[in-house]
Amino acid sequence: ALAPPTPGPLAGRHVIVTSGPTHEPIDPVRYIANRSSGRQGSAIASALVRRGARVTFVTGPAEAPRPEGATIVEIETAREMLEAVDAALPADAAVFAAAVADWYVEGAGASKLKKDGTGTPPGLVLRENPDILRTIATRSEGRPGLVVGFAAETDDVVANATAKRLRKGADWIVANDVRPSTGIMGGTENAAILVTAEGAEPWPRMSKDATADALADRIARALT
Ligand code: CTP
Ligand code: CA
Repeated sequence: ALAPPTPGPLAGRHVIVTSGPTHEPIDPVRYIANRSSGRQGSAIASALVRRGARVTFVTGPAEAPRPEGATIVEIETAREMLEAVDAALPADAAVFAAAVADWYVEGAGASKLKKDGTGTPPGLVLRENPDILRTIATRSEGRPGLVVGFAAETDDVVANATAKRLRKGADWIVANDVRPSTGIMGGTENAAILVTAEGAEPWPRMSKDATADALADRIARALT
């Protein structure tokens, strides 16, 4: 028999959350990564679980603890993340909190790159990764009813996030100012701006846990 769903405003709902950085291999021992800790994504997944949702948490190699009560799918690359999200559909909502690498290294294979003795470094050829958010949000069939993206920006935060929302087909964008002076990237606090079709709504600077609760409450309201 199926276990009864956890009670809460999101009982019986399935939400996919992507989180953390991706790692893009250069060779078997080296990779390209970024400074995402995965803390905001883990906090969002936990907040959704607490509201009764069934959560599939697709994460790159992040330092943040994995959210309890979610189904955890560990991946490394952006291409693997897209496959995992695809496999987890259908969903009522999807939250794309991952800091996905924009590029992968073409031809990364089984052999370690070696110095060639002439002092000439190897040239890495970068190729653009699939845009997971855009791929899922612009799908004609099987699109989650609510698609939430993030935008980590250093300049013109609202303008960039508004453009991103439209370009990617997201319903909402949670925008962050990630200039190093804000301490948000890799830190424990966030100062988000929620960009929807209605406009931009700045949220107070608060812990990533409180930001996650606020977002989960909004998602619960939107789905009921
Ligand atoms: N995203 C994604 N797949 C990618 C890149 C980004 O799913 N290959 C998602 C992120 O998880 C986030 C949103 O798209 O929810 C915006 O990511 P961001 O890096 O800000 O957008 P980009 O389109 O990559 O633009 P930029 O050139 O500013 O990095
Ligand atoms: Ca990017």
